[in-house]
Amino acid sequence: MLFLHPADFTPVCTTELGKTAVLSSEFAKRKVKPIAIGDDPLESHGKWVKDINETQHTTVNFPILADADKTVVKLYDMIHPNASTTATVRSVFIIDTKKVIRTTFTYPASTGRNFDEILRVIDSLQLTDHYKVATPANWKDGDDVVIVPSIQDPAELAQRFPKGFKVVRPYLRVTPQPNK
Ligand code: BEZ
Repeated sequence: MLFLHPADFTPVCTTELGKTAVLSSEFAKRKVKPIAIGDDPLESHGKWVKDINETQHTTVNFPILADADKTVVKLYDMIHPNASTTATVRSVFIIDTKKVIRTTFTYPASTGRNFDEILRVIDSLQLTDHYKVATPANWKDGDDVVIVPSIQDPAELAQRFPKGFKVVRPYLRVTPQPNK
């Protein structure tokens, strides 16, 4: 998870990096490495980390990249000129082991990100990479899922979904989460 924060020593960013540190075991459980990036210099990040640890009662244990010349910020299109020509938005990129960007989130500077939602999306990606399912609205780990419409063969359905499934509509088939 590569996530950008608009500026060091700002209130919302302080809570966001703190929350990421607090959730470090949740990221580790999913084999996801958080990497923060900001366009303040490295020395600034170092001083700020002390504040984050103190105020958010945690220990930041993930890298914070210093992109002072905004090279990465520009490559990832994190400056939205209609919002600000200099300040970055709150971007999140979920990047897989093949270096493919699988999800992007963009929040305005005034809105702190929801890290439970980020973990939920990671759970969905990891599940749907391994099973022919998709996750419905507001799904969370352990809830029922839906079978992808491309699977129609009755023998394949029986083999892939031994717990059975409910046909609500031909295109809407609900099944227990396969890996639970
Ligand atoms: C903040 O992290 O609190 C913040 C950063 C940039 C603009 C507005 C708020």
